[in-house]
Amino acid sequence: MRKVDIFDTTLRDGEQSAGINLNTAEKIEIARQLERFGATIIESGFPAASPGDFDAVQRIANTVKNSIVTGLARTVEHDIERAWEALRGAEQPHIHIFLATSPIHMQYKLMKTPEQVVEIAVESVKYARKYFPLVQWSAEDASRSDPEFLAHIIRKVIAAGATTINLPDTVGYATPSEYGAMFKYMKDNVVGIEKVKLSAHCHNDLGMATANTLAAIENGADQVEGTINGIGERAGNVALEEIAVALHIRKPIYGVETGVNLKEIKRTSQLVSQLTGSMIQSNKAIVGKNAFAHEAGIHQDGMLKNPLTYEIITPALIGDVATELVLGKHSGRHAFKDRAIKMGFELSDEKINKAFLEFKKLADSKKEIVEDDLYVLLTDQQINEKNTPVYELESIQVQYSTDNVPTATVSVQNPNGDKISKSAPGAGAVEAIFNTLELVVEGKVHILDYRVTSIGKGRDALGEAVINLSYNGEAVTGRDVAQDVLEASAKAYLNAVNRKLLKSEKIEEVATK
Ligand code: KIV
Ligand code: ZN
Repeated sequence: MRKVDIFDTTLRDGEQSAGINLNTAEKIEIARQLERFGATIIESGFPAASPGDFDAVQRIANTVKNSIVTGLARTVEHDIERAWEALRGAEQPHIHIFLATSPIHMQYKLMKTPEQVVEIAVESVKYARKYFPLVQWSAEDASRSDPEFLAHIIRKVIAAGATTINLPDTVGYATPSEYGAMFKYMKDNVVGIEKVKLSAHCHNDLGMATANTLAAIENGADQVEGTINGIGERAGNVALEEIAVALHIRKPIYGVETGVNLKEIKRTSQLVSQLTGSMIQSNKAIVGKNAFAHEAGIHQDGMLKNPLTYEIITPALIGDVATELVLGKHSGRHAFKDRAIKMGFELSDEKINKAFLEFKKLADSKKEIVEDDLYVLLTDQQINEKNTPVYELESIQVQYSTDNVPTATVSVQNPNGDKISKSAPGAGAVEAIFNTLELVVEGKVHILDYRVTSIGKGRDALGEAVINLSYNGEAVTGRDVAQDVLEASAKAYLNAVNRKLLKSEKIEEVATK
């Protein structure tokens, strides 16, 4: 059966979304999960963009072995050299170079003539081929480019050594028939196109990314690019889980294989949502909370008589199985470690011990510990790179009543290891905590967004807080989990501040090398 490769760009195009800022440990964790998910290619970042991006791409390239790892580059030698330094340790080094080809981009953004654009594209591909065996070239804004010019530049970059040609719908403007027709046109008009992989890359501005990607497949695309949960610039990229499941459920129509391990979809989606702090809308196809919920009486009746009346996908297909009760208060360290290994975690003994202590604390106050709870505890240990966060919450006390002004008292260990205690009032309990923490972290903080959700069900479910704030003028997102939402909120606030501080520290570290 024809194979369509899955190119995941969650860590590059997805990470470009407003409010998402993953650290290196989180990116590695997502990359390892994408490998289990079965991504053919993982775009792990833009090495020349920042020292942090470079570090993440390099570490992912050295960690992931079953997926090809790539990095983005502009058509300049410096970007290509940085990409090579970051990716040379990968199993199959792959680079992704892009250059815009639409009249509007060439004239106003690049300020180049079409002839100059062709020359730059060709030279950059030739330069990249000196280092990389696999070179993908993207015609940015391809869907708004002149087809004849596009065919011409594609011929030239293939001759220069490109191994994949990507035709993005950068601004999500194309309709399915237009996008499909562009692929057919290139297949029919570019001599040598059969020697390279043809790739689709769709954005969702008009809500047509999935339909457009499927149209590209029907018209000969060999590879599709997208992100988990559809995260990405503006309205996002195509959601890869939608493509993988559509191709599976409608196999007789499309007749293609992707190599995606469908049972890993739910976990991959949850991990990306948890670490990016970006919520999945409840009616989101495939991975939304309500994607398999049947509410109407007529539907429920039909389902009872025969599930096929209303159910075209089962939750089990994507690995959404009822989370069992896994361990209890009396479970020992061995059983805990065993379970962690079965769940796919590879943690040092020190990290297992820390996670075990957290588990014991949770088991004292939560009746049932299910796999989702363990997953959160273990993931938190896995991504905890620095054992000493810059600020660490020690205790929190809130006086709250509807008749008085709420006041919070918070004790925190600061970066020097000193304990600081402060109090402040607020209009509500959460505001009092945030006002107090602002005194602790000694900077100007503005809360841009804040939300609390539950992990799992029941009144004793863990609470997850996600907070997007600006700290001394720079926006950053933090998240944390606790059984109490006030504690989770305080920790999420400090997590955001810590991320900002660690990021600046890393940039300084690299700058002084
Ligand atoms: O949307 C786009 O055009 C891109 C390119 C960099 C491939 O993301
Ligand atoms: Zn894109």
